[in-house]
Amino acid sequence: MRIEKDGKSICVAKIGDEVFAVDDICTHSDASLSEGDITDFKIECWLHGAEFDLRTGQALTLPAVQALETYAVKIDGNSVTVEI
Ligand code: FES
Repeated sequence: MRIEKDGKSICVAKIGDEVFAVDDICTHSDASLSEGDITDFKIECWLHGAEFDLRTGQALTLPAVQALETYAVKIDGNSVTVEI
């Protein structure tokens, strides 16, 4: 899902019991990653197919070469806090 805070768009993804938060905007161009597909710990940009590691933000495939910023996540029961 995408959340907006202080002018930032953040993509938040739950995989099993873990939650990850990265910049929502693809580093290749202006596409929302929260609309992409997730496989294992990778999210694929829907526009040109670049893949990013949700754990590190690292760009795994072209055409993206720049990593996403990642954000710390705290889970407290059913509540999730993203530290921006
Ligand atoms: S905008 Fe994401 S790969 Fe091009």
